Amino acid sequence: MTLQGARILVGITGGIAAYKSISLLRTLQKQGAEVRAVATPSVSSFVGLETLRAITREEVPVEVFHQDGDEVADSWTRHIHWGEWADLYVIAPCTAQTMAKIAHGFSDNMLTASVLARRCPLLVCPTMDGEMWDHPATQRNVALLRSDGIHVLEPADGYLASGIIGQGRLPEESEIVAEVERLLADVEREDGAPGSATNSAPSSASIDKVKRFVGAPSLFAGKQVLVTTGPTREHIDDVRYISNPSSGKMGIAMALAAKQAGAHVTLLHGPIESSHLPVMDATHSFESADELFTLMKEHGPKADIVIMAAAVSDAKPAERHHGKVKKADQEWSLTLAPTPDILAWLGEHKSDGQRLIGFAMESDAETAQEAARTKMEAKKLDAIILNLLRDGESGFGINTNKVELFVAQESVAGLQDQAENPPFAFAGTKLDVALQLVDQLEVSLARVSPSSDGESTNDR
Ligand code: CTP
Repeated sequence: MTLQGARILVGITGGIAAYKSISLLRTLQKQGAEVRAVATPSVSSFVGLETLRAITREEVPVEVFHQDGDEVADSWTRHIHWGEWADLYVIAPCTAQTMAKIAHGFSDNMLTASVLARRCPLLVCPTMDGEMWDHPATQRNVALLRSDGIHVLEPADGYLASGIIGQGRLPEESEIVAEVERLLADVEREDGAPGSATNSAPSSASIDKVKRFVGAPSLFAGKQVLVTTGPTREHIDDVRYISNPSSGKMGIAMALAAKQAGAHVTLLHGPIESSHLPVMDATHSFESADELFTLMKEHGPKADIVIMAAAVSDAKPAERHHGKVKKADQEWSLTLAPTPDILAWLGEHKSDGQRLIGFAMESDAETAQEAARTKMEAKKLDAIILNLLRDGESGFGINTNKVELFVAQESVAGLQDQAENPPFAFAGTKLDVALQLVDQLEVSLARVSPSSDGESTNDR
């Protein structure tokens, strides 16, 4: 995607990663964006403001009020004009200090003041030492930002300036740019082309945009989301089991995307590589379908949204042997019994306003769409994500996926006709696909009106 014509305001704060903002500004410019930068006072300890000025060919304001050498007559209102000017505001890197100020509405410098004045989405890229990131105060601030509709990109793991390995690095530039593109695509969908914002009074579209991004009721922000992922293992004896090759990657991507959208995420996972496991608000492991069912009965009813990505075995050995069964010389047979259909149980016990999202794994392209819709209906789901096995880009274990999202007819307010409700197709890395799915679910399900008053009832 090109960023042609997009107006991006880049906020830079005083951390060791501030030097990386130079490259970020250049990359955004090379993709056609118009960029401006604002910096906090301590940035000049890390990079020269002159460098930033040279790159952006603009002033790089630090304070709200007049600074020495400031040639702009209306500099004291510049935080308002610049906040209105931007299609997207990105703070990279963002220190713990600036994040705390934003979370609490401070406006003590140009960066924080323009955050309050902005009329566009804000993407914050926290960067700090691992201990600072893990501190409950920082995590509280992250949660506050997310509940205000601010997008927070999780810092990356790796070698930190303090010499320790931990979570706190500025994510790779490509990851930041991908997030910028995604958010701008949202703005474009809602508000026409980027660059169309003006300094005059806000249009109703831009007011909608502000409402969407700043504290508007959202399907995910502040909600309890339960995600299941990975395979189940149904033991024949202590060393043999029935299972499937699910790596759990798609469910993990969904959990990350829900977290990125501001949800509190509980992850229930089957036996998967522990190095794949992200840090979530709560995590529980299961081995068999029965164990997952027990966990689901405990956590399912408390969730606002359940995303059932686990590859649950449909059958288990009717009897589990203890120890290791000795091999036999003649033919063996195994009697199977059905496992509980956990998602169907959830559908039966769905509480008011709860959203259930399932996955359908199909191998016959001819009948896949019909089968997915039938599963969605039978299990009383709000949406289902169709995965086709052996499509080259989708399936077990690999990092990419190609899916179709079906939203239940009755879950889309005001639709009379199935023809008006076609599936949405998404492809890319599993994380990309998950981010797109969460975005689309925000749009399709947030305006669901089970109570027919036009309000989302899942805003509990
Ligand atoms: N699922 C479940 N419990 C099961 C089987 C499936 O909760 N015992 C869930 C899956 O996690 C998925 C959805 O139901 O979200 C559909 O799973 P899928 O395997 O595609 O379909 P099944 O219902 O198992 O039907 P079939 O195997 O015949 O296609």
